[in-house]
Amino acid sequence: MNSLNTSQETELSPLEAFNQRAAQKNLQGQWIAEEHLLRAIGGPRPAGIPFRWHWKDVETALEEATVALGPVDTARRHLTFINPGMSGRAAATTHTISAGFQLVKSGEVCWSHRHTMGAVRFVTKGHPEAYTAVDGEKLAMEDFDLLITPRFSWHDHHNPSDQDVVWLDGLDIGLLLAMGAVYYEPYGEDSQKLREGTSEGIGTRSHWLRPTWERGRSGRLPVRYPWSEVKTRLDMYEPDAGNPYDGLALRYANPANGGPTMPTMDCWIQRLGPGFDGKTHRRSSSAITYVIAGEGTFETDDESITFAAGDTIVLPNWTNFRWTNKSATEPVLLFSMHDIPALEAFGLLYEEPEAILNAASSPANPTAPLKPIYRHGAFYDQDEL
Ligand SMILES: [Fe+2]
Repeated sequence: MNSLNTSQETELSPLEAFNQRAAQKNLQGQWIAEEHLLRAIGGPRPAGIPFRWHWKDVETALEEATVALGPVDTARRHLTFINPGMSGRAAATTHTISAGFQLVKSGEVCWSHRHTMGAVRFVTKGHPEAYTAVDGEKLAMEDFDLLITPRFSWHDHHNPSDQDVVWLDGLDIGLLLAMGAVYYEPYGEDSQKLREGTSEGIGTRSHWLRPTWERGRSGRLPVRYPWSEVKTRLDMYEPDAGNPYDGLALRYANPANGGPTMPTMDCWIQRLGPGFDGKTHRRSSSAITYVIAGEGTFETDDESITFAAGDTIVLPNWTNFRWTNKSATEPVLLFSMHDIPALEAFGLLYEEPEAILNAASSPANPTAPLKPIYRHGAFYDQDEL
């Protein structure tokens, strides 16, 4: 009797039996994939979770890595921020961007190589003598400078100064992995050859006075955005300039064409005035933010994350958030990187409740969700029908 019951309970419906036979032939019915579509009603589920890394923890880990790694490994003394909600994915801070800190000790050279991932570097502890060479150009690394290593550019880092140099890296790794577009190539020597003249430099290619014998070049330019100029620009704006969501947010534009910082990533400098109490907002893009100065909170639907200078915060895609500045007298300064250009390229940048980046409004659900079409599949419970 017992064996008869067990047999009845495990008997498959005709559809379940078909699903199994199809799977054995590497086929799958759309009705099974429907689950994923239904989950996307109202928008995508955010990839990963909002999270903050304290600078003190990062600094301690960098110091320990300095001891644990030998000098031959200096090009890899980088600690990536792994989003606790995406620990199974390779180097994922967001689903598109990997960010982390790199420390280069006095006298070290990080060997030259290139890859299709584009990289941005925001220097948090620099020195006038330290530099990154990018495609033959020498870009100095001073405090809070931003350096761009475009996709597939040769790059090597040099620290001839007598102090450690530290920076925040951001690379579009998740995006390129999804596109199957990761290429890598070592240069074969520690240092690439530098261009001797200045006529080939970024200043010549992006200046308003350009050679008549060259076609305009706007892509894959090694660019340094000096902090001194960024700060001067920020200070030109009135204290209450900006919008109620992001405060004053300026984009690091490509100096040759005014476009995004890189084809896949945009970088921002942001100022939250004293007492700033931002409105809640979300975007289909994800972001990683470094706190240059000030203290405040980063609030999502589920939690309030406090931050101070040196901390790094990750914002997953399609996640409600708002900023506050705790101080009544001092501004908060933020540097951030976003996958906005990648989404914009496909018309997928959405914002709500307002499209303050001139993006499209978030797609609305015109009607209440319909009941599932496939009523007889093993997938749905009876009370879902
Ligand atoms: Fe690299």
